[in-house]
Amino acid sequence: MALPEHRSTPTDTLGRRLHDLRLSVTDRCNFRCTYCMPKEVFGRDHAFLPKSDILTFEELLRLSRLFVGLGVEKIRVTGGEPLLRRDLPKLIEMLAGIDGLKDLTLTTNGSALAALAKPLRDAGLKRLTVSVDALDETIFRAMNDVDFPLARVLEGIDAAHDAGFGPIKINMVVKRGVNEHQIVPMVKRFSGPHYILRFIEFMDVGTSNGWRLEDMVPAADIVALIRREIPLAELPANYAGEVARRFRHADGGGEIGVISSVTQPFCQSCTRARIAADGQFYTCLFAATGHDLRALLRGGLSDEAIAKAIAALWRVRDDRYSELRSDATLALPKAEMSRLGG
Ligand code: GTP
Ligand code: 5AD
Ligand code: SF4
Ligand code: SF4
Repeated sequence: MALPEHRSTPTDTLGRRLHDLRLSVTDRCNFRCTYCMPKEVFGRDHAFLPKSDILTFEELLRLSRLFVGLGVEKIRVTGGEPLLRRDLPKLIEMLAGIDGLKDLTLTTNGSALAALAKPLRDAGLKRLTVSVDALDETIFRAMNDVDFPLARVLEGIDAAHDAGFGPIKINMVVKRGVNEHQIVPMVKRFSGPHYILRFIEFMDVGTSNGWRLEDMVPAADIVALIRREIPLAELPANYAGEVARRFRHADGGGEIGVISSVTQPFCQSCTRARIAADGQFYTCLFAATGHDLRALLRGGLSDEAIAKAIAALWRVRDDRYSELRSDATLALPKAEMSRLGG
């Protein structure tokens, strides 16, 4: 039997289906990573979203259900720093109960993980990604720019293992001249079956991180640099559209990945929808503006009407920013990474 229109999976103008939802639950963060929330821009007087603008757990659940009805199989909870959202395990429990959702995961800076790993696991969170940009204490603290100690994040990762998460993904954003020489130590530290380490090319997300092409280390250079010390064998993608190119240590020591959004864009297979904490729906990480789903939620519309509106927005989607990146696109207005959660 054919599904009613608002229950079937929409495809965009480039033939890409809707498959993943990235849900930002707060625009706040306790870090000020220089490549994401530079202090000069996100200072003491920065205006974060007022509570009344932020979607409630019930609203987040309702939207998530509608997206799952439209074909979403994976939800990634993001921020800002998602663990700053009060009672987050409660939300995870609500999302974990959605019929038809196959994967539920979260990206965190790890600072509050020591206390929250177990409650999150118990609530039904399936997987976890933790950002770690360096093992050298000075570099780690300089990159988070709030002097946050590495040991607390490593404790959080250990707590996540103890709670039953694994393998845990570790994200490292590579910035030339800042943490390049941490690449090999990171590969050594996060080898083995418990981790999947991913190197991310520094991206021109938002308009405040002072991005320059020369500060980006190409994924191919990262792989070459590792190969000088550690033999790697390339692995096939886990699924069509996976953002990372995967490798394993040729000696069997574990898996790494490189995310080359700048040098080898993956827009062709981009099936990701993003919702900011205030309910704006973005069809691309580099979009300037979103579509206001909160107004629909709070305007008394039926589930069917909201699902139809989402499907209609997806059908006209033509985003492929990374493929079109140029000096001209650099100057375009774009939403901040801390609003869209990567
Ligand atoms: P899995 O669910 O474990 O496969 O995660 P993933 O491979 O989707 O990775 P994740 O969501 O952790 O993304 C890693 C990083 O890649 C993000 O934090 C972004 O920096 C970047 N990234 C993810 N999706 C996109 C995208 O659609 N466009 C661009 N340009 N970058 C992306
Ligand atoms: N370029 C690449 N990755 C970034 N992230 C945040 N800002 C950038 C950027 N400008 C990463 C974080 C985290 C994920 C959510 O996105 O380090 O791992
Ligand atoms: Fe916070 Fe993550 Fe942005 Fe760093 S990258 S400032 S931890 S949201
Ligand atoms: Fe998707 Fe936009 Fe990233 Fe391309 S640039 S992969 S369209 S989010």
